[in-house]
Amino acid sequence: MRFTSNMAQIIDGKNMANQIHSELCKELSQFVAEGNPVPHLTAIIVGEDPASQKYVEKKTEACKKIGIRSRTIVLPESTTQAELLDVIDKQNKDESVNGVLVQLPVPAHIDERTVCNAIIAAKDVDGFNEINIGRLALDMNGIVPATPLGVKTLLERTNIPTFGRNAVVVGRSKNVGLPLSILLHSDGSHATKGLDATVTICHRYTPAKELAKYCRQADIIVVAVGKPGLITKDMVKPGACVIDVGITRVQDEAGKYKLVGDVDFDEVRQVAGHITPVPGGVGPMTVAMLMQNTILAAKKQAADRAN
Ligand code: GUN
Repeated sequence: MRFTSNMAQIIDGKNMANQIHSELCKELSQFVAEGNPVPHLTAIIVGEDPASQKYVEKKTEACKKIGIRSRTIVLPESTTQAELLDVIDKQNKDESVNGVLVQLPVPAHIDERTVCNAIIAAKDVDGFNEINIGRLALDMNGIVPATPLGVKTLLERTNIPTFGRNAVVVGRSKNVGLPLSILLHSDGSHATKGLDATVTICHRYTPAKELAKYCRQADIIVVAVGKPGLITKDMVKPGACVIDVGITRVQDEAGKYKLVGDVDFDEVRQVAGHITPVPGGVGPMTVAMLMQNTILAAKKQAADRAN
């Protein structure tokens, strides 16, 4: 007897990230064999947020696996903005450092935009500096934020068609929703290889009825909001690809903590064509793309030094 299933294909981000790690490991070995220094990433955390500590741990573990040198600078919650900018400046000037990131969020007394702009564009492996965001918007080669780049890579490596398709991005954050909407709609014939989709951006002021209407027209839905259960089965066109960037820590009935996304996974998987799980979907791809950006930054810096 044959059973057929209409359930969505689950996109395994963890497996894809591991594959990318091994590709990067080879790329890095070759770069070092050519006489270049081992790429070096500095991660800075301000305060003691356990989630931030966990994320940075995952990043440094990935560095170790691939062979990237890494250092984590932990600063107290009471660090002033001027002190943080001073630490960043030292990393900017240190020629042995190729990539610098400040784990977000920073404490409320520090301005996130000032911090993101303080990391020089060449070492800004998060791609959050105004120069890198500007380059992305203008189809110029720069460093692309890791989470949106992870989503783009997931779509490409899963062979999800995007050319002329309808995509809805739910969430307009400067680090995820905005850069992702640029990657999705920009020109595929350009060197930066956009995805040529028709993009609708929905956000907190999109009425619920309108959100459902736009989502139902979408071939691709990417949601990055942090509201568990926001995307339900009735909002998804049969066969659509649903990418869940949300991560929220919730308690289950037994009181155990677990991570959930913005999509009602068990329901939506019954209608979608493809779906990413949380955890194990976009999260590992963000880390893989950070590794890719660090090696790219080191290569660009080596090329600039040679010229
Ligand atoms: N906090 C949540 N996501 C990110 C990220 O991609 N980079 C940094 N630096 N902080 C984050």
